[in-house]
Formats: sequence, C-alpha cells, structure tokens
Amino acid sequence: MNASVNPDMFYPGQDVVDQANVSEYEKMYQYSVENREEFWAEQADTLGWYKKWDSVLDESNAPFYKWFDGAEINIVHNAIDRHLENANRNKMAIIWEGENGQKRNFSYNGLNREVCQFANVLKSMGVEKGDIVTIYMPQIPELVFAMLACAKIGAVHSVVYGGFSTEALASRIDDAHSRVLITADGGWRRGKQIDLKSIANEAMQRSPSIEVCICVKNNELDVEMEPTRDFWLHDLKALPIAGSKCETEQTSSEDPLFILYTSGTTGTPKGMLHTHGGYAVYTSTTHRMAFDIKPQDRWWCAADPGWITGHSYIVYGPLINGATIMLYEGAPNYPYPNRWWQIIENYGINILYTSPTAIRGLMRFGERWPKKHDLSSLRLLGSVGEPINPEAWKWYHHVIGNDKCPIIDTWWQTETGGFMICPLPITPLKPGSATKPFFGNEMAIVDDDGNEVGTNEEGKLIVKNPWPGMARTVFKDDQRYADLYWSQDKDGKWIYLAGDSAKKDEDDYIWVIGRMDEVLKVSGYRLGTSEVESALVSHPMVTEAAAVGLPHELKGNAIHTYVILQAGIVGDKKLEQELRAHVGSEMGKIAMPECVEFVESLPKTRSGKIMRRVLKARALGQDEGDLSTLEE
Ligand code: WT7
Repeated sequence: MNASVNPDMFYPGQDVVDQANVSEYEKMYQYSVENREEFWAEQADTLGWYKKWDSVLDESNAPFYKWFDGAEINIVHNAIDRHLENANRNKMAIIWEGENGQKRNFSYNGLNREVCQFANVLKSMGVEKGDIVTIYMPQIPELVFAMLACAKIGAVHSVVYGGFSTEALASRIDDAHSRVLITADGGWRRGKQIDLKSIANEAMQRSPSIEVCICVKNNELDVEMEPTRDFWLHDLKALPIAGSKCETEQTSSEDPLFILYTSGTTGTPKGMLHTHGGYAVYTSTTHRMAFDIKPQDRWWCAADPGWITGHSYIVYGPLINGATIMLYEGAPNYPYPNRWWQIIENYGINILYTSPTAIRGLMRFGERWPKKHDLSSLRLLGSVGEPINPEAWKWYHHVIGNDKCPIIDTWWQTETGGFMICPLPITPLKPGSATKPFFGNEMAIVDDDGNEVGTNEEGKLIVKNPWPGMARTVFKDDQRYADLYWSQDKDGKWIYLAGDSAKKDEDDYIWVIGRMDEVLKVSGYRLGTSEVESALVSHPMVTEAAAVGLPHELKGNAIHTYVILQAGIVGDKKLEQELRAHVGSEMGKIAMPECVEFVESLPKTRSGKIMRRVLKARALGQDEGDLSTLEE
C-alpha cells in the first residue's frame, strides 16, 4: 500500500492482503464520499428488498434524514429468510456455550424455527407492528430470538442490558410504555445464579404499563410468577398458537426496528431509534468490509447483545452476512483465566472482537493462559468501546494474534449504529488509533468555532455527512436529537457532533481521546454521571451527589463520588459501603462507585451546575483551570 515503510506502523501480512474483501482504500474512499448515494445504493443492492427505494437519501427535512425511502424491507428477511433458500440453510448460525459448560447450536433453519415460534407467541399476546417490547435477559440464545421475533413482526425492541438493575429497567420500560416484557428467571456469572426475575418483578411494580411478562427458564432459581401476568416461554411454545411458521412482516425502510437507551450529558437516558433499511445496509457493509467476513468464518463478538455492539455485530450485521456467531454466557476467567482461549480453540474461532477493558483484564493473568491453547484459527482481532492503550494493543497483537492478526479498532457509538472510523484488514496500523473514516464518511476535528484544528491538535470530533446507520431520532424527543447532535456550519451544512475529543496526525490517522461531556466510560460501558448521582440521591440520607471518572488501570475509568449527607448524619465506612451497594441495586453493578467521599459542599457554577471538572482536577492533583464561574 505505502511505498515507504513507516517504523511506527504495523503492516498486514501478504496472506491478509491477498484475501481482503476490499483490496484498496484511498480510491474507493474518494469514490464513496464523492458519490455517497451511489456507493450506498450499490451496497444496498446486495440485500433483499421487497420493493426498491424511491430515493437513496432524502435530505429535505435535515437533520432528520431518510435512507432508502419508499422501499420495503424487513431486516429479518435478510438476517434469516434469505439464507433458507441457499446453502446457508443448514449452516450453523449460533453456537452458544453457557458458563457451566452447556452447549446449544442452531443452524439458520433452526434459528428460523425458534424465531417463528417466538413471533407467534408475541402475536398471540397481542403484540402488533409498532409496539415496543422491552427485553431484559442474560446472554442466552433466547435473547437473540426475542429481538429477531420482534423485528420479524414489525414490533420494536428495547433491550435493557441484563447487568442493569431495578431503576434502570423501570425507567426504560416507562419511557417506552411497553406492554410486554421478555425476561428470564436468571443468568449465570462466576458459578452463581443471577436473579433477574425478582429485579424484573420490582421494576414491573414501579412501571405499571406491563401487562404480559414472558419468562425464559435458564437456571434453577425459584422465582415468583404472577399467574395472570407472567408466563413461561416453554409453556407458551407448547401451545398450538406457537407454530413454527410465521410470515415476515413487510416494513418500510424507515420503520423503527429498535430503540436502545444510552447515557447523555444530562437527564434521563435517551432512547436512540434505529430503522430497518439503512441500519441493515450499514451494519452488514461495515462488518463485511472491516472484518473481511468469509462464508466459512466463525465470528465471535464477545460483547453482550444488550448493548449496541451486540445489536449491530452479534445479531444483525453478522446474520445478514450469513456468518456463524459465537455466544458465551459467563465470565471470561471462569473457572480459569483460559476460558476465552479455550473457546477459541474448541470452536475454531476466526475473528475475535472485544473491548480494551476485557483485554487488560485477561492480560493481567499473564501469557501462560493463552499459551496453553492453539489460537492459530484466529485471522483478525477487533477492539471497541474506548481508546485501546498501546500496551494492551501490543499484548493482544503479539500474544493472542501471534503477530499475524491485524487489530481492527472500531470507533463508533450507539447513535451511529455501526463503525465510523476503523481500519480495513489491509490498512497499516498504529496502536491506539482507529485509523481512518469508513467509506462514505467525512470526519473532521474542529475547535469551538467549527474551524478545523491543525495536525496533532486536539478538538471536537465531527461527522460532516449523514450515513445509513445513523439513529433517526431520540424516541419521543425530536428536538433533543436535533439540539444534542446537530448544528449547521457557516455554509448551512449539517454537522454531527460526536461528543468525543480527538486529534489527527501527520498521516491523517485519527486518535480518539475520550468523551468531552458528562458521559463516563467504565469498562467500556457508557454511563451518565447524572444517573449515578440520581441513584445516590435516591438514598434517604443523601442530599446531593457528584460523580466523576478517574483513570483506572483495568476499567479505563472508575467512578468516584462526592456526597453531601442530610444534616446531622455522619459519614463513615459503613455508610460508604451502604451507598455503593445502593447504587448497585438501583442501577446495576457496573455503576457501583469505586468510592464515596463525604463532603460539606460541592464546587458549583453561579447557576448551580456542579463543576465536575474541578472535582476531577483536585482528585488528580492537577490545575483546576478557569474558576471564574465558580460560586463564592
Ligand atoms: C463512545 C460511545 C460503539 C460500541 C460501543 C460503545 C467511545 C467507542 C471507541 C474506540 C475510542 C471509543 C467513544 C464513543 N468509543 N469505540 N474504538 N476508540 N473510543 O458505544 O456506549 O454508545 O459509547 O465510546 O467515547 O463516543 P457507546
């Protein structure tokens, strides 16, 4: 690719280059940004449509863009139905392994049967096109079936990550006004049974819209079932209504496929809304090109399907591409730190896609664990969720990838639906950089006035164009969507603001630095400081709270909190533990603060906004910066 060899770069091997799905980047990139609509129409042509589009891109109501408007499609027609007519029919679609060693496999034909049955169950419960079904599940095949069953009948899924707890679930059910909740008795983690149903029960009490709860049996917990509301899936599947044939609903390209809640700067999490057509095109194209997907590949995205990574790159993208997907429910180091490496060897995984925090977590157990296993099936590796530190990158590349697997570092967001910045397998790599924009995207780094900053200068990361995988709106709040993400430049052109800071180096490689807003990335999970704070304030002894993220070796960031107690109450170690546990039970373990510090006051602006950056600077012993807006 490059005439001269740059010592900072890692070059792909000839075997990688020879079989690449995309053998050249620059020319194709130029073409894709100069002929954006043609480029995306060509990609869309690889999918199955009931009816083709009237326009590729409709910009008449920007920033509310429409893609493939006028077309009829269903993403499930592409993810399943089409495969039943060709050699993929009997190919493995899902390989699942449970933590305690259970194994379940589904061919595309088997997947279809499960999804049809589930869809029929949903229909019999009165679920119709456009209804929002909330799903709260562990990482089991039924989670995937439930998502696809909703999509198949034109219903909209709202998956709440199984690691979240009562309040997080209740508020999401409420916002979506879901009538139906799909859950399970529980999951497994580190040999223990995680009790999901009682969390769901409490959430249903707090959010009265749920009329029907479908429960999957996954462990041996004795759970409380309310006779008129709660049903076991296996009972429903035994009924004549749950036949194994179900017609896929024809939906419009712009019909909603799912909402997925994600944290923002302030207020409640936003339900990002994605649609059938553009999302199908975007997830499958990015997956096929960036990860060189081949028909015989076994693909393992070790995320949870409950996050966008799982929606786009466990479920939709890979299934549309007819890949075999690996799904594992359990801890990466249980019972021993070789669990993942054993899975790779056992199933002959070809591509592993995971997060820097998972890599750092496994790296700390040393090379001897991966070295016990034959990892030679691996061809490509991937990273997502936060910037990957060069040390973890090199370990991943050398120890796991045997110096021969390129690392596809993908920058994207819940809002973007799919990869926005990522290398192709042929791209020379620099550890820690997600490299260059994906096809069709023009990215820039700008200052507060919207002017591009110089080489290696830090600024705001923006996207200068619409793309098919973009979220269409914030559920029920168009204004919030437009205000939060979009602005117009001097020429009136619409610009998407990502919320990250970044730099571009002398080779035009993009280096994402981190969030600029009050969003925390903890172990790659996205949380709002406001969510942690409101969980703290919901405790009767707390009057005010502030949360900040401080650097942490394994988690990337760890949550530190500052709390003002009710008058007369004295904070001690015991109360600190109680407050940490309280956040854990309201929000979920991932939101549990590292520490709670009791304070008398919090630094605030004159308008009363907590200055978290001041707290952070103090904690790190850094310069507190401009304090002119600080009160008193
Ligand atoms: C935020 C979005 C998209 C899947 C998982 C996260 C950070 C994500 C990278 C990367 C540097 C990254 C950004 C972004 N981020 N991938 N490869 N390099 N930072 O989705 O939960 O919506 O979070 O994650 O800060 O804004 P999300």
